[in-house]
Amino acid sequence: MKTIIEPFRIKSVEPIKMNTRIERESVLKKAHHNLFLMNACDVIIDLLTDSGTGAMSSEQWAGIMRGDESYAGSISFQRFEKTIQNIMGFKNVIPTHQGRAAERILFSVMCKNGDVIPSNTHFDTTRANIEIQGAIAKDLVIKEGLDPQSKHPFKGNMDIDRLISTIENVGVDKIPLIMVTITNNSGGGQPVSLENIREISKIARKYKIPFYIDACRFAENAYFIKLREDEFKNSSIEFIVTEIFKCADGCTMSAKKDGIANIGGFLCTNDNEMAQKQKDLLILSEGFPTYGGLAGRDLEAIAIGLREAMDENYLEYRIISTQYLGEKISEAGVPIVQPPGGHAIYIDAKAMLPQIPPHEYPGQALICELYLESGIRSVEIGTVMFGSTDKETGKEILAPMELVRLAIPRRTYTQSHIDYVVESIINVYHRKNEITGLKMTYQAEHLRHFTAHFIENN
Ligand code: F0G
Repeated sequence: MKTIIEPFRIKSVEPIKMNTRIERESVLKKAHHNLFLMNACDVIIDLLTDSGTGAMSSEQWAGIMRGDESYAGSISFQRFEKTIQNIMGFKNVIPTHQGRAAERILFSVMCKNGDVIPSNTHFDTTRANIEIQGAIAKDLVIKEGLDPQSKHPFKGNMDIDRLISTIENVGVDKIPLIMVTITNNSGGGQPVSLENIREISKIARKYKIPFYIDACRFAENAYFIKLREDEFKNSSIEFIVTEIFKCADGCTMSAKKDGIANIGGFLCTNDNEMAQKQKDLLILSEGFPTYGGLAGRDLEAIAIGLREAMDENYLEYRIISTQYLGEKISEAGVPIVQPPGGHAIYIDAKAMLPQIPPHEYPGQALICELYLESGIRSVEIGTVMFGSTDKETGKEILAPMELVRLAIPRRTYTQSHIDYVVESIINVYHRKNEITGLKMTYQAEHLRHFTAHFIENN
């Protein structure tokens, strides 16, 4: 059979409230042209993020009922810990309420002022948690990773020569750890090859620098390795995952991605001394080490979700349905980051709307237009998110790319939902010349994209 189907059937449904263009115009205006500021019930298809938005399986719901809510020594924690130890092979497993809490604890314990943390590309919360320690988050993705049109199979790879020169220039004493994000979310959801992970690990071991993986989308990354790295074409996902984590000394994880849970995360390390310090800090803000910031039932859902995320039928459907969206809009002429990533499609708004200069936010203009067209919510990943206004000159400091991310929640939308998304993007593409830019009228000092206000600039 050529047709790939969703490898699940639907047991429980959540109605979508339909709305009209006139209603959407009023919603958008009230939200100040910022899609974070509208109510979710005014959205028809929500592609804002794939984080915590997936559908849980009947097994996960059964696990939720089994959750042991004991404050200390919960059986659910033991299942959680054992599952993660089996999948990832790390000695110490520390639950947290989500990925960024794991990051905060990791960097609080390991970093000091002036340190440098190399990565392929740090995700924004990772970067913020490094910078708050006074350390520098350094992105060393290969040059193909910054070229939206390059079809390199592993555009998330780290540039090994630049890693070595960074270590040599900065000095080992100032590099408390090396990180790699799989898949590379900020770089278009692009995978990292096992060859690259092994090389990073070799260098980390040579210089005796701990190596941590930001593991959010580890299963999707493993599936890309199976598809694109010849050595692993006959390997199981479990085997590839073991090989990935064997290279590292620890990881941070947001279970809201490849844990297919609605909340949760964890931090792992093989270093017992470090783990003790991390647990001491955990108790201050997250909770006792057998629950972190989570309920026992969440720990159950994550333990089950992590295994389900490695199911090959699921991964095939997941990667192919994302690719389907990318290919359909790309065939119609819409410029996207190539090749399609694992969890999302990224439209190159700069290429699609050349009439809108970056300081008038082409990505933001495009997400507003898509919302008006069909009620789809997507997110700008460009100057609104990563740029800033120079306080002295009032000029915009621009982001390197102006992208729009369409993130696909796991097991949530069907083929016809995706066809609806395809049709609306193509409709907007056909009238792309009529789209105009925006002017920012309010911005917060930090993470301005969440709360900024805009008006139409015409
Ligand atoms: N690392 C990566 C690569 C991520 O994509 C995220 C979250 C985090 C860390 C932080 O995890 O949200 O559980 O605290 N990414 C979400 C997104 C928010 O929409 O891409 P968290």
